[in-house]
Amino acid sequence: MSKDINILAIESSCDETAAAVVRNGRDVLSNVIFSQIDLHTLYGGVVPEIASRKHIDKINQVIEEALQKAEMNWEDIDAIAVTYGPGLVGALLVGVSAAKAISFATGIPLVGVHHIEGHISANFIEHKELEPPFVSLVVSGGHTHLVSVKDYGEYEILGRTMDDAAGEAFDKVARAIGLGYPGGPKIDKLSKEGNPDAIRFPRAKVGNSEFDFSFSGLKSAVLNYLNQCEMKGEEVCAADVAASFQKAVVDVLVEHSMEAVEKYQLDKFAIAGGVASNQTLRRAFEEACKEKGITFYCPSPVYCTDNAAMIGVAGYYEYIRGVRHGYDLNAVPGLRLGER
Ligand code: KG4
Ligand code: ZN
Repeated sequence: MSKDINILAIESSCDETAAAVVRNGRDVLSNVIFSQIDLHTLYGGVVPEIASRKHIDKINQVIEEALQKAEMNWEDIDAIAVTYGPGLVGALLVGVSAAKAISFATGIPLVGVHHIEGHISANFIEHKELEPPFVSLVVSGGHTHLVSVKDYGEYEILGRTMDDAAGEAFDKVARAIGLGYPGGPKIDKLSKEGNPDAIRFPRAKVGNSEFDFSFSGLKSAVLNYLNQCEMKGEEVCAADVAASFQKAVVDVLVEHSMEAVEKYQLDKFAIAGGVASNQTLRRAFEEACKEKGITFYCPSPVYCTDNAAMIGVAGYYEYIRGVRHGYDLNAVPGLRLGER
């Protein structure tokens, strides 16, 4: 039997300080996440400087905890995987610096990982049978990408948002209806009490590709609706707004994704990213895939939002492909998928 490969992974691209140990790209031995959400809630969104400082505070602690929970020492670790982009530059730098320091001190190889590749790879954790090729929709606070996963580490972007990311739209609309940050989970919850057909918000189709997305028009339509109600002195039913907005987002995401799966004649589809933990979205994709005879994959919510286990999975596949980074590895805030 060949030797196990253990990856220690670090993620600090936004407001979660996280470390994990993953065995052979599929088994999560530990997954430690320190969420900074409470800190940023005060300001209604992520404050980059505060995020960087908190990452510095917590990074060593979460790394040590991840090793301890996995019952491992540095000698057991084959590579250190770290998110080096995209994300907030100051936040990324903390994880990248920690990974480089450990690699320098121990001689363990360093593998830089793309954050979105991590999100997609989260699907491999609980679906041992899942292998490329498949189509994946990554919907998070910073990204909305429809991706053809041709092989491990080989991607083609089929469509992306032209303006706001899906999660960003959730956060902005939540703020407008007084729900606070982070808006996604709050809209998810409130929408259960609302009527998704109460207000017909627009479903925009824009961009260079038939699979591109746009959410800023939808966000403006919600704000206009709220303003008009205020001017007319009409009471706003926040639950109806939440449910109708959510339906507009989900409809577009499902429609584009199913068209892509059909066009590329693939029979597997996977969602990923923080917004993929949305219950209405998961249900809608489950139904759409069932109707088309496509196998649907989604990670558990804990692997949808930012975590280091997903970076460990992606890092494993990069590692076995021979990818190694030097001590000149830098944080790349605008890193493109497939770029090295
Ligand atoms: O993937 P993630 O943790 O961070 C980024 O890489 O951006 O995603 C965070 C985003 C936030 O915009 C948050 O509001 C959204 O995911 N989100 C949700 C839900 N849970 C988190 N959006 C809709 N429904 C949810 N249940
Ligand atoms: Zn993310």
